[in-house]
Amino acid sequence: DDMVLLPRPSALTFDLVAKCTTTKARAAVLTLPHGKVQLPMFMPVATQASLKGLTPKQLEETSCRLCLNNTYHLGLKPGQKTLDAIGGAHKLQSWPHNILTDSGGFQMVSLLELAQVTEEGVRFLSPHDGTPMLLTPEHSISLQNSIGSDIIMQLDDVIATTSPDHARIEEAMHRSVRWLDRCIEAHEKPDSQNLFCIIQGGLDLELRKECCKEMVARDTPGIAIGGLSGGEAKAEYCKVVDTCTDLLPDHKPRYVMGVGYPEDIVVSIALGADMFDCVWPTRTARFGNAITNSGVFNLKNAAYAYDFRPVDEGCTCTCCRPPSEGGLGITRAYIHHTAAKETAGAHLLSIHNVHYLLDLVRRAREAIIEQRYPAFAKDYFNTLYAGQT
Ligand code: GUN
Ligand code: ZN
Repeated sequence: DDMVLLPRPSALTFDLVAKCTTTKARAAVLTLPHGKVQLPMFMPVATQASLKGLTPKQLEETSCRLCLNNTYHLGLKPGQKTLDAIGGAHKLQSWPHNILTDSGGFQMVSLLELAQVTEEGVRFLSPHDGTPMLLTPEHSISLQNSIGSDIIMQLDDVIATTSPDHARIEEAMHRSVRWLDRCIEAHEKPDSQNLFCIIQGGLDLELRKECCKEMVARDTPGIAIGGLSGGEAKAEYCKVVDTCTDLLPDHKPRYVMGVGYPEDIVVSIALGADMFDCVWPTRTARFGNAITNSGVFNLKNAAYAYDFRPVDEGCTCTCCRPPSEGGLGITRAYIHHTAAKETAGAHLLSIHNVHYLLDLVRRAREAIIEQRYPAFAKDYFNTLYAGQT
């Protein structure tokens, strides 16, 4: 039952720059309505239209040019009316660069235990006043049209990969395909906002293959792989990403949702993934953790009370860079002493951690272009494990 489909409008161009000859790693330039971004790319999560306390200026200084917002959060507050009045999320947060919004269903199912999925959409009780609400594919797209994000995500039916209910995982995959059709139909701004599909199917490679075929046929400007990073074994995770990227077109961006540990990013790039997002770098900063090439260090540890070196020696972020080079020259001791009081230390560590991941994918991209990605990945793991002994 092969369908003949017209090419759909899109608001992006994807230009392949280099392909690794021994792995599936790629380097590309993705041109979006609010500027170009280099792939592979890490996207920090700015849930409430700000990166947990960072100003848009500070986020810009990390070199971030594409950040994530949540439809679920923005739809509740400030709400669609305010978004329409202001003219979208770029204006709301005074962010001149690109924004990607997740569709909201995943957040509700993971945040609200009372969320219920039916064919219509996701039912849940408002966290504000407990009134019953329903997020449909049409409503999610309408909200994302009001937000005006450069990349919008389809509403999908997400089941934890660790769920034993195979029938439910299969149903969720097929439902996600049906919901994509409803999202495409409801999307009013395909010329200025790029709708990405989300491949589901749990850890079942046959379901994933079927889902890839269905989603690819619908010709969205970009493709996401969802339902991962939920505690599955690394080997299972890799098999799913590898199986999917084998079936995806070369000339479209591929986004693995919810992935943000440096090790997982380095491996996923080798498997042909281009885009990643995760709350982990900022969340872990609030616990006093600094991400470095040698691993993650907790600066609340007493060992750092008199350590006057930068958070991460050699790092070029605003937090670590010395004042002589326009940075803040923050020491480990300073973070140690402020981490207990939360905000100041946590914000500085967030700046460092986000910069670290952006720089990691930038280094990975350079290695792909110079045809030395396998050596880069090997080096990365050698340094990481040497730091952990
Ligand atoms: N974030 C992490 N994983 C997912 C997913 O499978 N779907 C959506 N919509 N968001 C996600
Ligand atoms: Zn730093």
